[in-house]
Amino acid sequence: MTEDFVQTEAVQTLLDKASGISEDGGNDRLQTITRDLVEGIMKIIVRHDINESEFWQAIGFLQGGADEYGLIVPAVGLEHFMDLVMDARDAEAGKSGGTPRTIEGPLYVEGAPIVEGDANLTSDPDDTDTLYMTGQVTGPDGEPVKGALLHVWHANSKGFYSHFDPTGEQTPFNNRRRLKLGDDGRYQFHSKMPAGYACPPDGPTDQLMKMLGRHGNRPAHVHFFVEAPGYRTLTTQINFGDDPFAKDDFAFGTREGLLPMPNRQGDSAMIAFDFQLQRAAAPSETDFSARQRAHA
Ligand code: DHB
Ligand code: FE
Repeated sequence: MTEDFVQTEAVQTLLDKASGISEDGGNDRLQTITRDLVEGIMKIIVRHDINESEFWQAIGFLQGGADEYGLIVPAVGLEHFMDLVMDARDAEAGKSGGTPRTIEGPLYVEGAPIVEGDANLTSDPDDTDTLYMTGQVTGPDGEPVKGALLHVWHANSKGFYSHFDPTGEQTPFNNRRRLKLGDDGRYQFHSKMPAGYACPPDGPTDQLMKMLGRHGNRPAHVHFFVEAPGYRTLTTQINFGDDPFAKDDFAFGTREGLLPMPNRQGDSAMIAFDFQLQRAAAPSETDFSARQRAHA
């Protein structure tokens, strides 16, 4: 049996009906995408000779893994793929330059405190080194960006994020702040050093990684959104260049230009990192994606 089976009249009629494409009503774009998606799955079933038990195992995994889709998507490279797609679309549209984007990941929480000046991100005790970060947000011509809001979030020294911490030990918004920057676009904060992150042991993502012969580790990292009037909202992160997983991130979030080496001295580590934004070519570019995000 070959994939031509999917081209038979019976299967093609099934696809037309199942996707609603032959109906008057419904969303045209969704009908077309649904048809392509289901047809793609059908071809994979035939190409790999997937039997009924394997098919239901896969459906069971998807059901059981639903809570962790936000983790599975980066783990299988799809969130990074979206970055590659957006980069390529930008290149086609002649938009280039500035700090590279990279994955948001699933662990942002909306509504973090807005703070000004030299900010401390860490509310909870954490017996580890202190990270000091400084830099400036500029535009394409090196001009300081006015009115920027820098969202920062990272894990604690156990690799756990507040709001998602399985130990329940962290207070809301620990290691999460929104820094309101002045007209010079400069920022400065300190916090307790994050450790590398591992996907939850024995959860669906971890199980999948093990079955693929992979690990579920990320290097220590700090996430950012940078938003400012007239500029394109940037989603990015820095990963620590001296972390053992710096070149082996299971979520594919590490990128050239986003791997600074912390300057470690005694019990502190310094990172200087500047952000360069693109100018917004349309008002919609100052928006955030419509992704569903947690709120505390
Ligand atoms: C995942 C976790 C992260 O902290 C992150 O930044 C990206 C992905 C994950 O669990 O898949
Ligand atoms: Fe993260």
